[in-house]
Order: sequence, then structure tokens, then C-alpha cells
Amino acid sequence: MASSKPRIIIVGGGLAGLAGAIKIAESGLDVDLFSMVPVKRSHSVCAQGGINACNKVARQQGYSEWMHFDETVYGGDFLNHQPPVYDMANMAPKIIDLLDRMGVPFNRTSEGERDLRLFGGSLFKRTHFAGATTGQQLMYALDEQARRWEVQGKVTKYEFWEFLWPVVDEQGACRGIIAQDMRTMQIRAFRGDAVIMATGGNGLIFGKSTNSVICTGGAAARCYQAGAWLGNPEFIQVHPTAIPGEDKCRLMSESARGEGGRVWVPRKKGDTRPPGQIPEAERWYFLEEKYPKYGNLVPRDIATREIFFACRDGLGIGGGRMVYLDCTHLPDATKHKLAGIFEIYEKFTGDDPCHVAMKIFPAVHYTMGGLYTSFEPKPDFKGMVPGHPKNMMTNVPGLYAFGEVNYQYHGGNRLGANALLSCIFDGLFCGPSAVQYVQDQKSPAADLPESLYQKFAQQEETKARKLIESNGTFNPYTLHRQLGDVMTDYCTVVREENGLRTAAEHVDRLRDQFRALKLSDTGMWTNQSLSFTRALGDMLVYAQAILAGASLRKESRGAHYRSDFTERNDAQFLKTTVAKYDKAKDRPVIEFEAVPTPLIQPRARTYGKVDA
Ligand code: FUM
Repeated sequence: MASSKPRIIIVGGGLAGLAGAIKIAESGLDVDLFSMVPVKRSHSVCAQGGINACNKVARQQGYSEWMHFDETVYGGDFLNHQPPVYDMANMAPKIIDLLDRMGVPFNRTSEGERDLRLFGGSLFKRTHFAGATTGQQLMYALDEQARRWEVQGKVTKYEFWEFLWPVVDEQGACRGIIAQDMRTMQIRAFRGDAVIMATGGNGLIFGKSTNSVICTGGAAARCYQAGAWLGNPEFIQVHPTAIPGEDKCRLMSESARGEGGRVWVPRKKGDTRPPGQIPEAERWYFLEEKYPKYGNLVPRDIATREIFFACRDGLGIGGGRMVYLDCTHLPDATKHKLAGIFEIYEKFTGDDPCHVAMKIFPAVHYTMGGLYTSFEPKPDFKGMVPGHPKNMMTNVPGLYAFGEVNYQYHGGNRLGANALLSCIFDGLFCGPSAVQYVQDQKSPAADLPESLYQKFAQQEETKARKLIESNGTFNPYTLHRQLGDVMTDYCTVVREENGLRTAAEHVDRLRDQFRALKLSDTGMWTNQSLSFTRALGDMLVYAQAILAGASLRKESRGAHYRSDFTERNDAQFLKTTVAKYDKAKDRPVIEFEAVPTPLIQPRARTYGKVDA
């Protein structure tokens, strides 16, 4: 039912969506918040280690917002957009204060200050934390605030609703969405004067990852097929430390290393002794040896490659694909701070990390790329113009991207504990930009003809029916396993041209097979098979953009490591990869767009490697 009051639709109930909803409701506009899962189960709840910000204690040690900004850009291998990162680093202390006031149970020092821990890519303690379940604590705090607006009728939640498509009018502006009730399977249109995508990352494209099963990237891929561009799709973060699992990989937080955990392998190849029986002199602490300055806290792209190479060279535990993450030597009080992840480790492996070194391997974790967005810089480039409608708007007017699905902040590699920050920052800082956009509009969505909405709802009905009625031979779950395997093998830690070509051919084949599949459930009540299969189709489309970007970026930068182009090449590739969907060819078209570096000039990214 059309309402005459302007409303903003937010798709995604994680931290970015909730922070945006709160800020927009504060400004007086109404919000419709869509989430595939109960909001409190959004993937942000899985974040463990912490959230970065300079605070008074860090400042006393010589740290500053500028250093946070510089670390983020250096960590991202200079592909980040500097004005938004500048704002993010400067607003971070205020965000922590706000979260504290909302009741987030941050760990405290004995003097009562908020405690800090070390995290990757920094020599300073500047990561605020709540044990090792920080994401969960932040989610619960923001969810409570959003509920305050919900009871006042300013925020309406649509949980168990899946975003299917953006409604784009004849002028090319986004005017609402089509969504499906995942219980009744009803498909319907929702009018919105602006739409904010806050739908997170796409780890499921790689099969097993640390991500939740809803992190398919399907929503972003749908916007891409509807005309929104992708930025840097090839930049995928592989977290160094996860428990490999049959079903998925489980994160073992960087906070374990931040609190003093050490990564090592036996010096002797194939050593089968239990870790506790391998003497100190027979252990190779390879991160500490190669990067004495940062040790176990080199950024994730570097730690991941080193672990991967140690295993490739036969030095993994028992010659296999795992290394030790050892916390057994830590004091009890420190172990206590890591209880949240130690419990997970013990639950899934049977070993208690307090007494036995953990066995870990890298796993796909975060999507640095995402929907392409822009912003209005201040004249001196020190930040964005607050409230400018362009901030974090995609190339489709009225369609915004906040949080992990937004490609702006992390460049080629995200620093640990900057994700929670960028999500909340987007919601709080850029929510008002969407409000301004709505206030500038002359024709509200409520006045648009119903036929516009029915056209898109019909399009989605037809697509869903086609999938349900498809009577081919291929099983979508089997196709997904193949997609995950081929993307993991050829497009994660080490990439090279032949492998990328092999993967691209395989994905093309999978797209053909997708046209001839059969769903295991064809019912019209809570049909999860339909939702998954639809997302699979979109994951395949997204995978093509990832592979095309990875193939054309003939350099190594951040998480994108090419064994056939091992150096960073600023002259050619200090550029954003822009993927545009060519509807006629049903393929990505890749363009490169220069990344300005107005505040920090690129420099060699060595992290003090001894042989660098
Ligand atoms: O390792 C971690 O605790 C993850 C944090 C993050 O991805 O920011």
C-alpha cells in the first residue's frame, strides 16, 4: 500500500543497516528494514576481535587518528578512497563513545578505561573489544536502539524477506524494491524514496568461508544486473586463521595473535609429534622471523600468503595444509579474554586451546570490493561534505551501498577490526546523505504509477516460476560446490592467468548447466531451495566479474596476488576496477578508473620484511 510519507528502504539488518536505520529515523523519515534472517542473526554478529579507534590511552602512546587513517590506506595498498577513510578514522573515537553510551560491554582496564588490544597492521594498541564476541555485543546494542524507533513506528522490520530486485524508473532512478516473503513465498513491490543496500559480502561464491550461509552476494549481483556497477570485485580477503571444516570454515580471531598468540610450524618437514612435544628450537615462527617489526600481526593478506606458502613448501603440520596458532603460553587472564573463540575451537575440534596449540588454515572472510559508490570530497580532500546526497550512492540515483557491500574503504586489503567501524560509520555518516537525497526529490515514490511496480514484481514472479518449473538434471547444490572449488583453487591466495582462464571457462559451463537444473523442493511454503538456487544464479554472474577483474589486473596488490605479475604496478593499476554488466552479452565489461591519492602518497608496502 502506497504511503504519502517519504520512506527509505534498507536492505540488510547488520550493523550498517541498523546504524543507517537509527540515523534516518532520528532525522524524521520512516524506514523499512528488510532482512533475510532475524536482524540479530545478521552476519555482523559473527565478528569477533574488535573495532578500531584512537582513544585517549592510544593517544598517550603516540597514536592518532591520522595514523589510523594512514595504516588503513597502507594496509589497503593505496586503493582505498582517502577522503572517506579520513572521515572514518576521525569519527571512530566518537563512534566508540556512542557505543559505550548504548551499553556495549567493552573490556576495561583496572583504571576503568576502555581496554585496547593489538590488531593486524598496527604497532599500536587501538582495537576496542568485548572479549572475542565484539560483533555480537555491537549488534545487540544497535538492535535495541533500532527497536526504540520500531515501537514509535519509525522503523518497520521485514524479517525473513529476501530482496529480489531494485525498482528503477524510466529516468534510471531507484524507486523501491521487489522482495519475497520467505515463509509464504509472496512476491511484492515496496515503494521507497531511496534504497540502501547493506547486504554484506559474498563469501559463499567461494564455497566454504567464514561467512554465514546468507552471504552469497546475491543482492549485490542483482543490483549489478539491474545497472549498478561493481567496484574492485576481484579483491577478496582470505583470513589467515580459521578452523577448516567439512561444512564451512570457522573464524579464529586475529585477536588471538593480538593478545600474543604465535603462528608456527615444525622446522622438520612432516614432523608428527604433538605440538607440545616439539621443543622451541625445532619450531619455525615464520611470521616473527620474516617480519620482526610486526611479527604475527602483519596484515591479513601477508599472513595468509606466508601460511599458504609454508604449507605449499611441505612445512604444514604433518606435511598437510594447516599450521599452529599457539596460545598455550598466554597468562590465564589473557586466555579469559579469548574465551569466546576458544569455546568455538573446542566445540568443533575437541581440543582446548588453553592447553593445545590450535590447527588453523586461511579461509575466505571478507569482500573488499562491492557496489561502486561515489562521494563528494571537501575541497582539501580531508573528508566528505557531510550530508551530501552523493556520499555512498551507487551510479544508480537513489540506490546507496553501506557496509561490506560498499567498496570504498578498504582498498586491496582490509585491516582487521576496521569492518565493524566502516559499517557503523556508513550508517551514521552517510544515512543523512540518503535523507538529503530524499528531501531533494520532487516526485515521491508514493506518486508513481502502480504499473511501474507491477512490472518488476511480474518479472520476479516469472523468474521464480521458471526456476520452480525447471525440469533439468543438474542439482543446484552440486553446481555450488563446483563453483566454490574452482573459485577457491584459482582465485583466492595465488592467482595466475591460466588458472583464471580455467576458472572462467568452468564458471561459463556452470552457467549453462544452471539453465537445466531441477530443484529438490518445488513447494510454495518456506522454499529455501528456491532462495538458494536463485542466489546461485547470481553468484555465478558475480563470479564472472571477479574473474574478469582478477584477470585484467596484471599486478599484485593487497589480497590480489598474481604469481605471473608479482609486483604492484601503480602506473597502470593504481585504479579502481569498475565492472559493468552488459545485458546484451550477459557478461561483465571491465574498465579502470584512477584512484586519486590527495593526502597520502603510495609507498612501498613492506611491513619491515627482513629481505625486502
Ligand atoms: O579476526 C577477527 O576477529 C576478525 C575481525 C575482522 O574481520 O575485522
